[in-house]
Amino acid sequence: MSDPLIRPRRLRTTGAVRSLVRENTLRAGDLILPMFVREGLDAPREIASMPGVLQHTEDSLVAAGREAVDRGVGGLMLFGVPETKDAVGSGATDPDGVLNRGLASLRAELGEATVLMADLCLDEFTDHGHCGVLDDSGRVDNDATLVRYREMALAQARAGAHMLGPSGMMDGQIAAIRDALDAEGFTDVGLFAYTAKYASAFFGPFREAVDSSLQGDRRTYQQDPANGREALRELALDVAEGADLVMVKPGLPYLDVLRDVAQASPVPVGAYQVSGEYAMIEAACAHGWLDRERTVLESLLAFRRAGATSVLTYYASEVALWLQRGL
Ligand code: PBG
Repeated sequence: MSDPLIRPRRLRTTGAVRSLVRENTLRAGDLILPMFVREGLDAPREIASMPGVLQHTEDSLVAAGREAVDRGVGGLMLFGVPETKDAVGSGATDPDGVLNRGLASLRAELGEATVLMADLCLDEFTDHGHCGVLDDSGRVDNDATLVRYREMALAQARAGAHMLGPSGMMDGQIAAIRDALDAEGFTDVGLFAYTAKYASAFFGPFREAVDSSLQGDRRTYQQDPANGREALRELALDVAEGADLVMVKPGLPYLDVLRDVAQASPVPVGAYQVSGEYAMIEAACAHGWLDRERTVLESLLAFRRAGATSVLTYYASEVALWLQRGL
């Protein structure tokens, strides 16, 4: 037995050498904070399955958005929870609807100091909870939904969003929305396409976050978790239709998809650490089974290693604070 000639451990001997050879890093500016604003609240309300994440009032939304931006978070992604819902999701296109009002308030407070993003999807606004409108047989009607998305995009652009996040997985949604925006002169409003989005159990806590009324599932429009290849097809379509950034979602269970998309994409790629991923970490940490700070940072670093430029995470504001303190 001879001594090893090659010793990879040499590059791990001290903190200084580890820092010198580190390939990936986290920056607050890479992180995007998803936020919820709920109509009719007089105080912010915690989401039980996402401890520490709030449904905001308009006032607490603006305060929390300001705080995150002051800490260096790169962007905010807003979701709205209306008081009343209907079959076509009327609240989504109402300039006075909760999401559009929240956008306007954040824009007034923050101006160009952040990238203000809006979830562009009908599920929070429909009484059946689906991401689009239904046809007579109760199926999600792709092309009728595109008409609603075009209207929703204009309402969000008028409210002051810099970037829209179409998350409904309708065919042709990027082209339809791009066309609607351009026709009204909103050529600078960007599209952050939810490109590879899976029909995932990991969205569970989000249903509570938006008071969703969904019965059933989204398997006729979101991707089958068994499939990798179609993510690349969705990528090609979204890029051809004019997506400025693309996203893979959920995050940790789909790192292989993220890697494939990141290698093939000509535009920046985001990863979304979704509600169920957050809930898992929080639950384990509440039991003392995982070290919270290390687990959160490691999970976020994994997205960067797999090729994500930006990461949507409910931890964004807190992590930005940790990063300020230095790691
Ligand atoms: C659809 C949308 C969902 C999420 C983001 N946008 C829910 C879904 O597709 O069922 C999930 C986000 C999360 O779980 O954190 N508007």
